[in-house]
Amino acid sequence: MRPLPLHRPAPLTTLLALALAAGCARSPQPATGPVPATAPVAVVALTPALPEDVHSFAEPDEARVTHVDLALFVDFERRSLTGAATLDLVRHPDADELVLDTRGLDIRNVTTPLGDALEWELGSEVEHLGRPLRIRLPDGLDRLEVHYRTGEDAAAVQWLEPAQTAGGDAPFLFTQGQAILTRTWIPTQDSPGIRQTYTATVTVPNDLVAVMSAEALTPGGERTELGRVFAFRMDEPIPPYLIALAVGDLEFRPVGPRTGVWAEPSVVAAAAYEFADMEAMLDAAESLYGPYRWGRYDVLVLPPSFPFGGMENPRLTFATPTILAGDRSLVSLIAHELAHSWSGNLVTNATWSDFWLNEGFTSYIENRIMEEVYGAEYAAMLEALGREGLASEIDALGGPWSPETILHLDLAGRDPDEGMTAIAYDKGAAFLRTIENVVGRERFDAFLRGYFDAFAFQPMTTETFLGYLDEHLLAGRPEWREAIRPEVWAYQPGLPSNLPPVTSRAFADAREEADAFANDAAAEDLGVEGWSTHEWLHFLRSLPRELPAERLTALDRAFGLSESGNSEILFEWLRLAIANRYEPAFPALEDFLTRQGRRKFLLPLYRDLAATSWGREMALRIYREARPTYHSISSGSIDEVLGWPPTP
Ligand code: BES
Ligand code: ZN
Repeated sequence: MRPLPLHRPAPLTTLLALALAAGCARSPQPATGPVPATAPVAVVALTPALPEDVHSFAEPDEARVTHVDLALFVDFERRSLTGAATLDLVRHPDADELVLDTRGLDIRNVTTPLGDALEWELGSEVEHLGRPLRIRLPDGLDRLEVHYRTGEDAAAVQWLEPAQTAGGDAPFLFTQGQAILTRTWIPTQDSPGIRQTYTATVTVPNDLVAVMSAEALTPGGERTELGRVFAFRMDEPIPPYLIALAVGDLEFRPVGPRTGVWAEPSVVAAAAYEFADMEAMLDAAESLYGPYRWGRYDVLVLPPSFPFGGMENPRLTFATPTILAGDRSLVSLIAHELAHSWSGNLVTNATWSDFWLNEGFTSYIENRIMEEVYGAEYAAMLEALGREGLASEIDALGGPWSPETILHLDLAGRDPDEGMTAIAYDKGAAFLRTIENVVGRERFDAFLRGYFDAFAFQPMTTETFLGYLDEHLLAGRPEWREAIRPEVWAYQPGLPSNLPPVTSRAFADAREEADAFANDAAAEDLGVEGWSTHEWLHFLRSLPRELPAERLTALDRAFGLSESGNSEILFEWLRLAIANRYEPAFPALEDFLTRQGRRKFLLPLYRDLAATSWGREMALRIYREARPTYHSISSGSIDEVLGWPPTP
């Protein structure tokens, strides 16, 4: 039997019916459906049953948040979000307490909707997790208000000075909830298994625009004495890490009937050009995996300090401007975030130990979308780049026997961020590719469509996925099971030997050119005509790590690498420059480290520098200047690599 959809928007009658279904004896109003004559003896648990989440204080089997209504005032001067979160909940009949996650929140009071004070207390601080907010529940109460403000350095929120934006004259704000940062700006149950619908009214300064991962109910906002008020509604139940807000001088431009871009006015045209294929990607994804269930799909291009490449906030992906290469060559990132509309946002990792269910599935689907839209050759290059990244990640994690290379991770007591490696992405995707190879594409596609349908709007564990795979794809075919070995993929380290190889003709050619250059061919004689970004990346990665300065100069002269407007190419080039202490590229390096804040670029460059005898000091000098402009997600990681603050 399918579990009851407890997390759907919950009018009173539904809640009542659910409470009855759950064995609740309280029945203050006539309910629809059968009412048991006597209260059942056995107490049934709230559904769906959730596995324990070691990264949340919530006790969802006792009392569970089903809806969050936010009323927030965005105070740029004090750098604080101030207001209230009104929470709807369902309760076990015996529950007398609701436990929420908070971190750094300043809680003013907790009340009933009528304003009566409720008893509450904040537990002690736990590293990474923050503090539990325990609220005593009077009989029958199923809605309450938490009045609060965010703390000065709420990790989810980045407040930007006008100078940190493209336009330069308005401030900017954005939030980033994944993995466990939503609790730094919203007091709720911050666990990916606890799905919640949400509504919000957000008040911002009059010349600014607010956008959220939700339907905009007042597109231009409404001007009031306090500022401009924007209202939002997300009717699909989502994990709280997907609640997202951005405020700035923003403009919208449509790309297709269901797709468009939001960006600062000076960026919006470039963004619309770059992402012109979004609608085609959306159509391709639907044809593969079934209807898109979120209405619109828009992309918000953020200022350059955004710490990630992209974040799959529903209806509104947040993206770094570093993918605006001018030639649409980095748009696989959009395919990736779009793919999360199925894997991640529709069927969600139940805990952060199951993160590969989000990212591995998504990386696989990303590649399938790219294949539909740009062809098999193109997709093969992308997959090959992923495999290269996977090989170096396995090295970095300590080799193929390292437990860190297992898909299903034990993250108890750790920051879930530590599990967010290429293993989840590229080993996860390789697992699905292995299944596809064994059972055939058609059968696997039908299986995935059925999977997304069966578990839509529900959390998923590794164990449940493997069970469903067995039952719905492998049952009665022991030879398939033997060929795939799902448990080895999910629970053993390293790369299983049945991993299907990726071959790309274009990459073989690019590698030959790299070998030729290593053997002293002149840069001008290399056959780079018509190379895509991906061939350049493969070429740069294939060069020997050590090259004499004059060879690097020859490369840079011939191909203008230090001036490249393509962030991925520039990044690979700068790594090569650091490996060789190639000083002519250092101004470009310093510029790159100070004008964007994407962790994927910053961390390896700082790490490479810090690993040399000469580079550490340079890294610290640049970091001292740039650190205040980075998001805490990026600076937190770099602090560790550089041992910041340095001891005098
Ligand atoms: N959901 C992730 C970003 C994320 C992961 C945020 C873990 C916080 C914790 C997003 O979908 C993602 O994977 N982004 C990648 C780009 C992608 C093309 C691999 C990124 O930001 O680099
Ligand atoms: Zn992702």
